[in-house]
Amino acid sequence: MNLIPDLEILDELDVPRLTVRECEGARKVYIETYGCQMNVSDSEIVAAILQAHGFGLTRNPEEADVVLLNTCAIRENAEQKVRHRLDVFRAHKRKRRPGLQIGILGCMAERLRHKLLEQEQLVDLVVGPDAYRDLPRLLEEAEATGQAAVNVQLSREETYADIAPVRYDSNGVTAYVSIMRGCDNMCAFCVVPFTRGRERSRPVQSILDECTRLVEEGYREVTVLGQNVNSYRYVAEGTVVTFPELLYRISQISPELRVRYSTSHPKDCSDELLYVHRECHNVCNYIHLPVQHGNTEVLRRMRRTYTREQYLALVERARRIVPGIALSTDVIAGFCGETEAEHQDTLSLLEQVRFDHAYMFLYSERPGTYAARKYKDDVPLEVKKRRLQEIIELQTRISLENNRKEIGRVHTVLIEGPGKRGPDQLCGRTDTNKMVVFERQTFHPGEYVLVRITDCTSATLFGEPLGRTTLAEAARLEAGRV
Ligand code: SAH
Ligand code: SF4
Ligand code: F3S
Repeated sequence: MNLIPDLEILDELDVPRLTVRECEGARKVYIETYGCQMNVSDSEIVAAILQAHGFGLTRNPEEADVVLLNTCAIRENAEQKVRHRLDVFRAHKRKRRPGLQIGILGCMAERLRHKLLEQEQLVDLVVGPDAYRDLPRLLEEAEATGQAAVNVQLSREETYADIAPVRYDSNGVTAYVSIMRGCDNMCAFCVVPFTRGRERSRPVQSILDECTRLVEEGYREVTVLGQNVNSYRYVAEGTVVTFPELLYRISQISPELRVRYSTSHPKDCSDELLYVHRECHNVCNYIHLPVQHGNTEVLRRMRRTYTREQYLALVERARRIVPGIALSTDVIAGFCGETEAEHQDTLSLLEQVRFDHAYMFLYSERPGTYAARKYKDDVPLEVKKRRLQEIIELQTRISLENNRKEIGRVHTVLIEGPGKRGPDQLCGRTDTNKMVVFERQTFHPGEYVLVRITDCTSATLFGEPLGRTTLAEAARLEAGRV
């Protein structure tokens, strides 16, 4: 995607279907979302709140009365992207639509607060992640006073549990369900605890109800979300429900509902959780387990609370309890004080674990974090880039090698929608979260199909569909093979 799309070309981008009814005569809101899955889920909550107050939603920013950017602050370049988009919308407001209200939501709003108003003139709204219920009032206030309205209050309780998200951007097959908010971990590099506040878990029943509704609406997969889902904890009727228990209960809603989650912190990935993967056929055999670095001393500086050896032992345990489980990770290159030898440890860890996929980042200092206050961001940019490049090249090779081993195997794929290369193709994911592209034939999104893998790149598998199946049937076949 072009970093700075014009309003004109924005319409031609890969803008998903809008499934909500547009309210006649109502003010129309256009929402653009940056950052993680949690932000996607939050935008659905924002849409629900605004729709309940009579606003319409539009996917065409040209006809919007309100433009909301739901922002990310995780790295400097995430914020730059938003500032570029703001330039575009402000120019649009000046030249063509003086009544347009522009709002900044999410993590950047929370991090910069009033500073945003000084830095970015012509912004009407600055709203943090815990203040979305206040949006209708804030929009009204900004309109009435002609002044910017701000609410960046963080909360210890807000989970938006009672709000049914409006899935305006949905493929109708897979959905995110937020189960907790905030983070108490304070990893040295990370801005999230500052932008999202304290950790809190959403009531169990509201999660189960939302997942049940999704199944009734025809959804086939939920990904439950939290910054650190392993620390989910909710006391209901005197009993404590932890994450493995929650996951188990979600899996029991329907044998045809696939369940995934993100993100799980390695420090508290329990055996109990691994057994839920093993025992429940519809809990996917895939864990995103961010390691961040391969060197124990760097992990200590990052305040990740585990060592390289403990992480490797966890991988070993996961693979022993759940044979064939797929793993992905996050890696940061060029953290404060990283030596060449420490960087080599990240490479050797990647070699050793052989992740199926990795998200790889340059360290970006975030103001106010422990690292920004205590350490020097002293790895030169050129060195950071070279190290990141080495990490990317290695992981791309490993992903390709892992994918090549898939050729000839048969996977159960949940079809999500059309493939990128045209209407004759469909794409969907394996249980192990690999994207598979295959011929459409007579298949449809939402169906489970057995697909034999015939080819691959480092990021995608290609295959031939063998026929429809159900999750339960595929699990029986799998059990028969073992
Ligand atoms: N809660 C998740 C991570 C959320 S942020 C977890 O703990 O696993 C997603 C990823 O962004 C992190 O895993 C980390 O790899 C990366 N990240 C966070 N802060 C960063 C920074 N300051 N610079 C570069 N990458 C960062
Ligand atoms: Fe950030 Fe660490 Fe919390 Fe993840 S666990 S959101 S990396 S502080
Ligand atoms: Fe970004 Fe906030 Fe998510 S900083 S990664 S949008 S929690």
